[in-house]
Amino acid sequence: MARCCKLVTVFILWALLMLSWCEASRNSLNGYDNSYGRFKSDSLIKRRDDISRLKSFVKASLRAPITVSVSDFGAKGDGETDDTQAFVDAWKKACSSNGAVNLLVPKGKTYFLKPIQLTGPCKSPLTVQILGTLSASQKRSDYKDSSKWIMFDGIDNLSVDGGGTGTVDGNGETWWQNSCKWNKAKPCTKAPTAVTFYNSNNLRVNNLKVRNAQQIQISIEKCSDVEVTNVVVTAPGNSPNTDGIHITNTQNIRVSKSIIGTGDDCISIESGSQNVQINDITCGPGHGISIGSLGDDNSNAFVSGVTVDGAKLSDTDNGVRIKTYQGGSGTASNIIFENIQMENVKNPIIIDQDYCDKSKCPQEKSAVQVRNVVYRNISGTSASDNAITFNCSKNHPCQGIVLDKVNIKGGKATCTNANVIDKGAVLPQCSST
Ligand SMILES: *[C@@H]1O[C@H](CO)[C@@H](O)[C@H](O)[C@H]1NC(C)=O
Ligand SMILES: *[C@@H]1O[C@H](CO)[C@@H](O)[C@H](O)[C@H]1NC(C)=O
Ligand SMILES: *[C@@H]1O[C@H](CO)[C@@H](O)[C@H](O)[C@H]1NC(C)=O
Repeated sequence: MARCCKLVTVFILWALLMLSWCEASRNSLNGYDNSYGRFKSDSLIKRRDDISRLKSFVKASLRAPITVSVSDFGAKGDGETDDTQAFVDAWKKACSSNGAVNLLVPKGKTYFLKPIQLTGPCKSPLTVQILGTLSASQKRSDYKDSSKWIMFDGIDNLSVDGGGTGTVDGNGETWWQNSCKWNKAKPCTKAPTAVTFYNSNNLRVNNLKVRNAQQIQISIEKCSDVEVTNVVVTAPGNSPNTDGIHITNTQNIRVSKSIIGTGDDCISIESGSQNVQINDITCGPGHGISIGSLGDDNSNAFVSGVTVDGAKLSDTDNGVRIKTYQGGSGTASNIIFENIQMENVKNPIIIDQDYCDKSKCPQEKSAVQVRNVVYRNISGTSASDNAITFNCSKNHPCQGIVLDKVNIKGGKATCTNANVIDKGAVLPQCSST
C-alpha cells in the first residue's frame, strides 16, 4: 500500500516536472529565454505545493472519524455523579471539530444527567454513539423552566446511534406520581419530554432504546428528512401521556422497524407534518397510532401525506385514529393506513372529530376537514363493541373515506357525517351514515 502510494507520487511528480518543463520551454521558445531559469523553479515549487495540498486532502478524507468520548471530559458514568457538564464540554468539542466526528457515550456505564441542551450548528456531520445508559435526574426542581430533558437543537446531519445497547431512561415515576391523571388532588402540569430533536435537517436515530420518559418519550419537532429505525420505546401502560414518538411540524420522515409500548400514543402525528411514512411498527400497550389531536384552542392545523404501511397493534385503546377538537380549522388529508393487524384493540379504526381531553369542550361549528383517507387490508379483533367509528363534523363531513379489504371481528361500525366508499370485502359495514 505505502509502496504503491510512493510509486504513484513519484510518477505524478515526474509527470508534473515534464509538464512544467514543456511549458517553460514553450515559453522560452516564445521569447522568454531570460526568465527561463526562474520560471522553471517557480513552477516546480508551485507544483510541489499543489501535490502536498492534494496529499493532505486525500489524508483528511480517508481519515477515520475523530472520536470524542464523554469520559475524556470527566464523565464518571457511575449513575450518581452529575455528568451533565462533562457532556456539555464533550459536545462543544465534537460540535466544533472538522471532519466526521463521533461523540461516544461508552458502553456498560450509566450517566446521570440533568436537563441538557446540545445545540448546533456544528462544523461537520456528527454521530452521537450512545452505547451506555443515560439516566435522568428525578429531582423535579432540577428542571426549573425546562420542559425538556435531553434536547438536540439546530443540528444538521446528525445521527444518533444506540448500537443496540444504548438506553435513554427518563426515570419518570416521580412525574407520573405527581400527575393529575394518577392523583386527582394534584394540579395538571406538564412533565418534561425525554428526548427532543428540534429544528434539524437530515436526522437519523437508530438502534436506540428509550424508556420511562417523564412525559413524551421522543419528540421530533420542526425537522426535515428524518429516518428513525430500530428503536424500542417502552413505559408502563398506565404511565400518563408517555407518547412513544411524537412528530410535529416535520417533513419527510420515515419511522420503521420499531417496537413501541407506552401509556399514550404509540406514534402521534401533529400539525405541520407532511410526508410521513410509518413502516413495520409494533405497538402496545398504549393508545395506538394517532394523527392529532388537531385543532386545539381553535387552531388552524395541517397534516398531509401520511402512510402507515405495516403495523401490528395489540391490546391498545385505539388502532389507527384521527382525532380533532371541535372549533379548529385546516385539513388532515391524503392518509393511507394499510397492511395492519389488530389484536384486542378497543377502537381499531376511528375518526373522532369530537375529541376532548379537558373537563369540557364546547360544541362548535368549525372543524378540521378530514379528506381522502384509505383503510386497506386491515384485519383483527376488537376488544369492545366498536370496530369502525367515524364521528365526523356535521358542518364539515369527512370526505373520500375508503374502506378496502377490512375485516375486524367482534364490533360494529358507526359512521356519522362520513362519506364512505366500500371496496373489496368490508366487515363490519357502516350501519348508519
Ligand atoms: C449537511 O449536509 C448537507 C448536504 O449533504 C451539506 O450541504 C451541509 O454542508 C452539511 N452540514 C454539516 C454541518 O455537516
Ligand atoms: C395484508 O396485511 C398483512 C399484515 O397485516 C400482510 O401480512 C399481508 O401480506 C397483506 N396482504 C396483502 C395482499 O398485501
Ligand atoms: C360524536 O360527535 C358529536 C359532536 O359532533 C357528539 O355530540 C357525540 O357525543 C359524538 N359521539 C360519540 C360516540 O363520541
